[in-house]
Amino acid sequence: MPQLDPHIAEEIRQLAHERDAVIIAHNYQRAEVQDIADFTGDSLGLARQAAATDASVIVFAGVHFMAETAKIISPTKTVLMPEPRAGCPMADMMDANDLAAWKADNPGVPVVTYVNSTAAVKALTDVCVTSANAVEVVRHLTETTGARRVLFGPDRNLANWVARSLPGIEVVPWDGCCPTHDNVTAEQVTEARERHPNAEVIAHPECRPEVVNLAHAVLSTSQMLRYAADSDADEFIVVTEEGLIHALSKAAPGKRFVNLTPSMICPNMKVTTIEKVRDCLRDMTGEIDVPADTREAALGSVERMVAIG
Ligand code: 13P
Ligand code: SF4
Repeated sequence: MPQLDPHIAEEIRQLAHERDAVIIAHNYQRAEVQDIADFTGDSLGLARQAAATDASVIVFAGVHFMAETAKIISPTKTVLMPEPRAGCPMADMMDANDLAAWKADNPGVPVVTYVNSTAAVKALTDVCVTSANAVEVVRHLTETTGARRVLFGPDRNLANWVARSLPGIEVVPWDGCCPTHDNVTAEQVTEARERHPNAEVIAHPECRPEVVNLAHAVLSTSQMLRYAADSDADEFIVVTEEGLIHALSKAAPGKRFVNLTPSMICPNMKVTTIEKVRDCLRDMTGEIDVPADTREAALGSVERMVAIG
């Protein structure tokens, strides 16, 4: 496990103080970036942190849609990304033109969008969800509107997870996915269970249905941290991005965590380094902006997401 360089850590803390900045990092970030952050969490937790902070600068160590979401929620704050080129391939699998055409083909059907999407897509959305609250948000939406059919993008795997959790609701998926999670196979999980017969399998809902079927629990990244700490099990097969192993080891010290495969790495999450966190604070670079009209149109769908679950 990489050790946090005390000099750079001190430098970052000093710069954050001078800039009145808060550093928030996703659970998939490099260990040393997680360790320097004021807050770590899943997409929902970080969106809530962005909404709650009093700091005037938010340094967002994550991927682009997360920083954009922070800017939508907190438009008066300066949002910086240490590596603004860190994108999410899934978010690019459905653009605003795609969604506009899909809506036109399905008039009156509510649009539910995974937070892993662009601000322009959120602007055309009724309600956003994260992996932590997708089922609850769709349940709430269908109960309050009476809708029995929703359009759900861009992740077909999360759409499938919502559909199987809410029998009677037709969840029409967009054909997008997360390459890191979608590559996992049921055979890999079965083999890992044979090697670790006492382990519980915790999987992210971005995995394919046949993988999710083999899991003891299907959870967002922060839900996995709580689950591992609370469970009676001592060993877990972790079917999500490898950065979570660091967070799990801190959340449930003494327990054993086996990452399903070393290839479960999101390259986009790893391009942010601790040096880039320091540099962006020092030089105030990597500012994320969202055009005002898009931001205003997207705000309602994001606020509804933050409010539920
Ligand atoms: P969480 O919201 O569960 O942290 O997931 C974000 C993500 O990008 C998963 O790939
Ligand atoms: Fe996007 Fe997948 Fe990376 Fe999450 S792990 S940020 S969904 S590419």
